[in-house]
Amino acid sequence: MSTHDKPPILVTGAGRRVGLHIAQRLLDDGHPVIAHYHRPSEAIEALVARGAIPIQAAFDRAEGAHALVAAVRGQAVSLRAIVHNASAFTPTPTDMDAADAMFEHFFSIHMRTPYLINNGLIDLLRAAAAVTPTDIVHITDIFAVSPNPAFDIYCATKAGLENLSRSFAMRYAPQVKVNTLQPGPILFKDSHTEAMRQRVLAETPLGREGGPEAVYRALRALLDNDYLTGTAIQVDGGRHLTR
Ligand SMILES: NC(=O)c1ccc[n+]([C@@H]2O[C@H](COP(=O)([O-])OP(=O)(O)OC[C@H]3O[C@@H](n4cnc5c(N)ncnc54)[C@H](OP(=O)(O)O)[C@@H]3O)[C@@H](O)[C@H]2O)c1
Repeated sequence: MSTHDKPPILVTGAGRRVGLHIAQRLLDDGHPVIAHYHRPSEAIEALVARGAIPIQAAFDRAEGAHALVAAVRGQAVSLRAIVHNASAFTPTPTDMDAADAMFEHFFSIHMRTPYLINNGLIDLLRAAAAVTPTDIVHITDIFAVSPNPAFDIYCATKAGLENLSRSFAMRYAPQVKVNTLQPGPILFKDSHTEAMRQRVLAETPLGREGGPEAVYRALRALLDNDYLTGTAIQVDGGRHLTR
């Protein structure tokens, strides 16, 4: 199959950091990419220059997921994989009205959006399954299993996605494999202070940030193995052992 004939891989949140790296590396490896983004960026323009198909959508509301599904269906008749990377990460506010609003927001991005996209595009994955293994990969977090109370809404909505992933694995077998990647300290945010970074790395047996290539290699392991479904890979330098 030439690159031109290959079914594309949809990556959500491809405009920066881990999602951007995944989209770039998939292109390097000869996969056509549909790059979902939220806010326009030069990085998205660079992906488009390499042949990626851009689709903008905001996942705060169900309409965003529905719009993305419609746009993907306008661009592709089959899909090799969906990588659910888009995410929001902030501590839970102490003000209850703000926490309530955040719950709605994080529920929408982490759980409802993947649910609607998977249901809306499953026939495109099944269409590709006759010629290639097909995958759904949900990127969650080691905190989905071992929560951090300061980020309880983030952790709980990622845990919900872990659980949904297992339902999808059962529902979509045997045509489509469904798995999760649970990153740990891959890329610190600007909001991480030096003291926070040192504490996290002290809890990480491999003692360093993993970088987005570690996530890509784990994604590659899922894409390249046709006997993995309903499972999770921790990409965390061993931090899950100490939390
Ligand atoms: N980095 C780490 O160390 C780490 C650790 C554990 C888990 N993870 C998980 O790994 C994945 C990637 O991490 P990351 O650090 O690269 O994440 P990130 O920097 O927070 O990027 C999140 C992506 O989601 C998009 N997004 C945010 N709000 C959105 C909305 N309302 N609608 C649609 N898209 C939206 C962002 O687009 P815009 O920039 O345009 O808003 C961005 O592309 C995430 O699922 C994260 O939870 C990462």
